[in-house]
Amino acid sequence: MKMSLYGSIFFLLLVNFHFFVEAINPEVYFNTEERIRKDGYPVELHPVSTEDGYILNLYRIPYGLKEDKKNRSVILFVHGQSASPYHFTVLGRKIAPAYWFADRGYDVWLFCARGVDCQNPRKHKTLDWDRDQIYWDFSFDEIGLYDLSASIDVVINKTGHNKIFSVCHSMGCSSVHALLAERPEYNKKLKININYAPMVVFKEFDYPLMIFFSYTSSLIKNISRILGHHLILPPSLIEMLTDTIRRLCGIQPWKNSCYTFLSVFGSRQSFLIQEDIAELAVNGFPRLSVRQMTHLLDHINKGEFRKYDYGIERNRVIYGRKFPPLYNLTLCSAPTAIFHGETDSLTDIQNLQEMEKTMPNVILRYKVAGEFVHLDFIFAKNATNMLYKPTEKLLKDFDSGRIKLRESVKSTI
Ligand SMILES: *[C@@H]1O[C@H](CO)[C@@H](O)[C@H](O)[C@H]1NC(C)=O
Ligand SMILES: *[C@@H]1O[C@H](CO)[C@@H](O)[C@H](O)[C@H]1NC(C)=O
Ligand SMILES: *[C@@H]1O[C@H](CO)[C@@H](O)[C@H](O)[C@H]1NC(C)=O
Ligand SMILES: *[C@@H]1O[C@H](CO)[C@@H](O)[C@H](O)[C@H]1NC(C)=O
Ligand SMILES: *[C@@H]1O[C@H](CO)[C@@H](O)[C@H](O)[C@H]1NC(C)=O
Repeated sequence: MKMSLYGSIFFLLLVNFHFFVEAINPEVYFNTEERIRKDGYPVELHPVSTEDGYILNLYRIPYGLKEDKKNRSVILFVHGQSASPYHFTVLGRKIAPAYWFADRGYDVWLFCARGVDCQNPRKHKTLDWDRDQIYWDFSFDEIGLYDLSASIDVVINKTGHNKIFSVCHSMGCSSVHALLAERPEYNKKLKININYAPMVVFKEFDYPLMIFFSYTSSLIKNISRILGHHLILPPSLIEMLTDTIRRLCGIQPWKNSCYTFLSVFGSRQSFLIQEDIAELAVNGFPRLSVRQMTHLLDHINKGEFRKYDYGIERNRVIYGRKFPPLYNLTLCSAPTAIFHGETDSLTDIQNLQEMEKTMPNVILRYKVAGEFVHLDFIFAKNATNMLYKPTEKLLKDFDSGRIKLRESVKSTI
């Protein structure tokens, strides 16, 4: 089975070889730092060490195109699963959220979770992510509890601000809420916990492909346990795949297929994403750990925001009980704002209403106008007007003390 998979991929590579030996856009190989410099912005890398030995980096864009070092309000962007800090820059100069907010006077920081290549020469105190499968034994539980907490502390320490804005996208919001529920003292460190298309509550889910996959969770866990693997696919294969995708996605007729492929992951075809984003977007895709993947599948399947399910026996050892504990969302008390799109089938409105009901301090739920899907939050050129502007208004209102009451805005205009 495994051999035939490699075989078919190798065959595909050979068949397509003549298509992509020609010139490729070198920018598809840029790392986050190179991307930011190329786009003309200042960038700093700040190392982060977690309690459990992982070594990460934070990217900082301290100011925008016009140098201005005044005391800026701080925003930390938190990427989702299968994503990376790179994705907050792919829309390019002046438009990508990382740049847009820096140009508007914010001190922008980009979080980088374990498992993503954040340009650290060493990625763990003792483990090697190429050789040691155990490096990949994590899910959004650890990303929230260890990576985010340590990163927030570094941001606070370096900026001298004792509170920051956080903006999470998709599963990045699962990590944020895992942290806020598990270590409620972090609520005090956030001015507003801003959620773009949060995948936190999963009571309702209307996305057949993912529902189908969610039933395979137990099987994936069993197979990977037998093989002793913590990664979904071997690194060499992933590298080969991403490289093929990068090369193919830059040229017609593949460009369109890449775009469609990306859209399927984002649940629906976007009307706002430009086709030429696909070749850049695949650049930031990290390797995927089995636990990360199956935790998401369980989340969808069971409809509950719980810690990772290791199976009854190991749950007893790890949690002292048969089933993993639920995260208690009532402990996420930081002021919270939820931005969502009506046509985003990964964030059913009923789930967001449930968040709003359970969490004690939701100050805003904002429905982005028109057809706005899951990946539009980071890949749509129109997001500047449709999403980032209303977000900026919220930040300004907060900083100037204008936000006091719980308000609910139904749509833009
Ligand atoms: C904060 O910075 C100080 C000095 O720059 C350092 O001693 C301290 O360990 C830092 N704390 C954290 C949590 O990074
Ligand atoms: C920057 O502003 C924050 C609040 O907005 C304040 O707490 C901090 O002390 C200021 N830092 C400097 C160096 O002025
Ligand atoms: C996986 O293994 C567990 C226990 O070892 C078993 O209960 C479960 O049915 C298995 N699941 C599948 C899909 O094979
Ligand atoms: C969740 O936290 C709240 C506030 O501390 C508490 O009253 C409630 O009992 C907790 N719920 C669970 C299920 O632990
Ligand atoms: C998106 O932006 C394009 C170009 O700026 C514009 O023509 C189009 O009307 C916008 N779409 C929406 C839904 O705002």
